[in-house]
Amino acid sequence: MSKKTIAVIGSGAAALSLASAFPPSYEVTVITKKSVKNSNSVYAQGGIAAAYAKGDSIEAHLEDTLYAGCGHNDLAITADVLHDGKIMIQSLLESEFPFDRNEQGDVCLGREGAHSYNRIFHAGGDATGRLLVDYLLKQIDSNIELIEHETAADLLVENGRCIGVMTKDSQGQIKVRHADEVVLAAGGCGSLFLHHTNDSSVTGDGLSLAYRAGAELTDLEFTQFHPTLLVKNGVSYGLVSEAVRGEGGCLVDENGRRVMAERHPLGDLAPRDIVSRVIHEEMAKGNRVYIDCSAISDFEARFPTITAICEKAGVDIQSGKIPVAPGMHFLMGGVSVSCWGETTVPGLYAIGETACTGLHGANRLASNSLLEALVFGKRAAEHIMQKPVYNRQYQSSSETSVIYKVPNTEVYELQSRMTNHMSILREQGSLIELSNWLHMLPFQEMNVKDITIPQLELSHLWQAAKLMTSSALLREESRGAHFRTDFPQADVRWQGRQIVHTKKGTKIRKNEGIWKNESFTAEKVAESLFS
Ligand code: SIN
Repeated sequence: MSKKTIAVIGSGAAALSLASAFPPSYEVTVITKKSVKNSNSVYAQGGIAAAYAKGDSIEAHLEDTLYAGCGHNDLAITADVLHDGKIMIQSLLESEFPFDRNEQGDVCLGREGAHSYNRIFHAGGDATGRLLVDYLLKQIDSNIELIEHETAADLLVENGRCIGVMTKDSQGQIKVRHADEVVLAAGGCGSLFLHHTNDSSVTGDGLSLAYRAGAELTDLEFTQFHPTLLVKNGVSYGLVSEAVRGEGGCLVDENGRRVMAERHPLGDLAPRDIVSRVIHEEMAKGNRVYIDCSAISDFEARFPTITAICEKAGVDIQSGKIPVAPGMHFLMGGVSVSCWGETTVPGLYAIGETACTGLHGANRLASNSLLEALVFGKRAAEHIMQKPVYNRQYQSSSETSVIYKVPNTEVYELQSRMTNHMSILREQGSLIELSNWLHMLPFQEMNVKDITIPQLELSHLWQAAKLMTSSALLREESRGAHFRTDFPQADVRWQGRQIVHTKKGTKIRKNEGIWKNESFTAEKVAESLFS
C-alpha cells in the first residue's frame, strides 16, 4: 500500500510538533522559505504556560485566558487545549527537555502579564522557543524530508479539495508537490507593520494562500502589539520579554514615574493590549518609556537573549533602563479551523499562528501560543493518521494559470500606512482612508513563473492588509487588541473579572465577502472588495 503523503508549509513549533508525531509509515515533507531556524517560534523568549504550581489549576489558567481574551475565546477549545497542553508539558518534563530549574532541581516557573499564578515554563532563560525548535527537530524521524529555501507559491485545489502545493525554490524553479494532506504552519503577518517581533520571512503567506484556496478566515482585526520591543532612535532591535516585568521590572517614563500605576489592578502585568495602549498614549504625549530592570539582580544570567539585544542596541543594562515601544507580535485571528486543525477546504489544515482556533479570543494570554502550537500540531497529525489513503490520480497543474496581483508600492509604504491606521488605536475615518488606499493601488498581474519572491511576498502582504482592514472596519466595538476610539467603552474587562462569553466573529471567504457571524446582524460587504 502506498504511503500517505503530507506537505507541511513552515518550520516553527507547530509544524515540527506535527511532523514529529508521524511514524515512518507516512511520507512527510516540511517546506520552509528560509532555513528551519527561521520562524517566529525561534524568537519566542517567554515560554510555555501550564498550570503546574501548587494551588494552580486548569480552571485558573482558563479564567486568565478568557479574561485576557475578553471572553471572545471558544470556551470548549480553550479548556481542551489547556488540558492537553498540560499533558504535553508533563511529557516534555519526563523526556528531560531542558526547562530551567533551580539549585534544588525544581522547575522554575515565571510570571507574565494577566496570569494569576507563576506558570511559565522557560528554557535557556529567555531562549525557550529556540530550544523547543532544536528539541523538536531532534524528535523528527529521519525519513521526514526537510526542504529549506523553497517558498509555497500557491495551493493546488481540484474539485474543491486541496491536493498539494506549488512552490518556487531559490533558483526560481517551480515545483508541483502533490500531497494527500497539506498543512499550513506559516506564521502570521508581523511584516505588515514597521515595528514587529517576527522573523522577516513571515509575510502573511499562510493567510493569503488559504484565502486564494477559498478557505474561511476569522477575526483578522485582532492583532496583538507586544508592549515592549527595544526601540532606540526609531530602530527596533527585538523583544524584551514580559518575563522581565514578571521578575520585577517596571515601566517608567524618563522621570522614573511608573506609567502603569493606577491604570489597571495588575499594574505592569496587566493584559498586553492594555499595557500597549498606555505606552502608546505616553508616547503620543511626547514621553519616552523604559523598562526599569534595576530590581533584577541576575539580569544577564536570567535573560541572555535580551542582554545580547541590549548590547547590539548599545543600551547599558547597568543603567537599569531599557527604552521600549509597542510592536506587532501576534495575530489572534487567522484561518478558521476545527478542533483538529481542519480548515473549511478539505485536505487543508492550518496550525500555529496561521490558524484561528478560538483559544486566544481578542487578545492572547502570554505564553499560550507555544502551547497551542504543540497541541494543535499533535492533534492535526492524529487526525490525519485516522484518515484513509486516497491513492488519487492527479491532473497536471498548469503554471500559467497561477496569477498574482502585485501592487505598485513598496513594503515600507504598506507598513507605514498599516502602522498609522491599523495599529493600537483605530477609528472609522482612518480605517476608510487606509482601505481606500489599499483598494485603489494600481497593480500588475504576474504569472508564477515570472514573479520574484519579494514580489510574491508583497502580493501576500497586500492581500492580508485588505482583509484585516475590512475586518477592523466591520467590528464596531472595542475588544481586546482591537480598540476603536469611536467605540471606546465596550471592553468587558472593565466590568471586573466577569467574563462575557461571545461567539461574535468576523468571517471572510473569497467570492463570499466579509460578514459577522450569527451573533451580529448579518452584513455583507461588496464582493468586489475582495477580488
Ligand atoms: C514574551 O516573552 O513577552 C512573549 C511571550 C509570548 O508572546 O507569549
